[in-house]
Amino acid sequence: MTEQPMTRLTLRRPDDWHLHLRDGEMLKAVLPHSAAHFARAIIMPNLVPPVVTAEQALAYRGRIEAALPEGARFTPLMTLYLTEQTDPKDVARAHAEGIATAVKLYPAGATTNSASGVRDFDKVRGVLETMAEIGMPLCVHGEVTDPAIDIFDREAVFIDRVLKPIRRKVPDLRVVMEHVTTQDAVDYVRDSNKNLAATITTHHLIINRNHILAGGIRPHYYCLPVAKREGHRIALVEAATSGDRRFFLGTDSAPHTDANKLLPCGCAGCFTAPNTMSCLAEVFEAAGKLGQLEAFASLNGPRFYRLPPNEETITLVKGAPVTYPTQIETGVGSVTVFDPGFALHWRVEG
Ligand code: DOR
Ligand code: ZN
Repeated sequence: MTEQPMTRLTLRRPDDWHLHLRDGEMLKAVLPHSAAHFARAIIMPNLVPPVVTAEQALAYRGRIEAALPEGARFTPLMTLYLTEQTDPKDVARAHAEGIATAVKLYPAGATTNSASGVRDFDKVRGVLETMAEIGMPLCVHGEVTDPAIDIFDREAVFIDRVLKPIRRKVPDLRVVMEHVTTQDAVDYVRDSNKNLAATITTHHLIINRNHILAGGIRPHYYCLPVAKREGHRIALVEAATSGDRRFFLGTDSAPHTDANKLLPCGCAGCFTAPNTMSCLAEVFEAAGKLGQLEAFASLNGPRFYRLPPNEETITLVKGAPVTYPTQIETGVGSVTVFDPGFALHWRVEG
């Protein structure tokens, strides 16, 4: 007897362990899309100016809560933007009082609004040691900024030049390598048995560098870290669908207005919040691993962050292709929704 293909999949309500919500009008427009499917999200602090202190994180959390649609059940988990001036005591207080869940490390100049990031990693050693003591995770944008390093090599070089030394000096620090894009990063995470995990985005499971450049330049596929060769994408799919507890979903959904994407020097970021769960179901189904989607999207993240998984569930139903807007309107202009390049058959039911 042949097995019936699966047409319904119920999983614990997922969380997004890396999300950009921005502020003001943009926040209001994008937040409902994440709150519709996700119970919690780690909120990136790269606003202008960045969210550096406990007080700023508390205020930002208040603005997010105020922008939630009526009846939405969504918990923003805040992060502090690490600078060379960050006060370890403020970080410890933010953690103790439940204001911030993690600290975000941007190497200065690595990506959108990262100018206040870290240049000299020894200057943040005190903060990292405090975090190691209290068990607070560090979320890392893992790319070197050295202009001499080819952009496609910046993640692999970061591991050797920055991450390994930091983890040698502060071995108890709990680190999440954010949005990994390479086989090198997957191998590095797999080789470590403690205090290291990685998030993987939806779009990096789907696109490789050809999608950005072959047959015309596609600004909506440009993000950082930039998508790599197909072999790296395959390594990411293997890691995400393996059930390995060290890999979990962080969409890095990063809205920019079309006006800011479609410039001679356009912004980096893919806006995947509206169709992420449908995209992931297709990817996991194609890999023959639908049964591992819950581990990736709903179980492995809370386990690393030492939080309980969500009690509620969502159900994905397979049917006729799902319709979703190609763009959403915001008070500051349109934002294009990620186009996976194939039809999506899985829709989130309730
Ligand atoms: O593509 C990206 N967009 N990568 C980042 O690291 C930042 C993000 C953003 O804030 O737009
Ligand atoms: Zn990001």
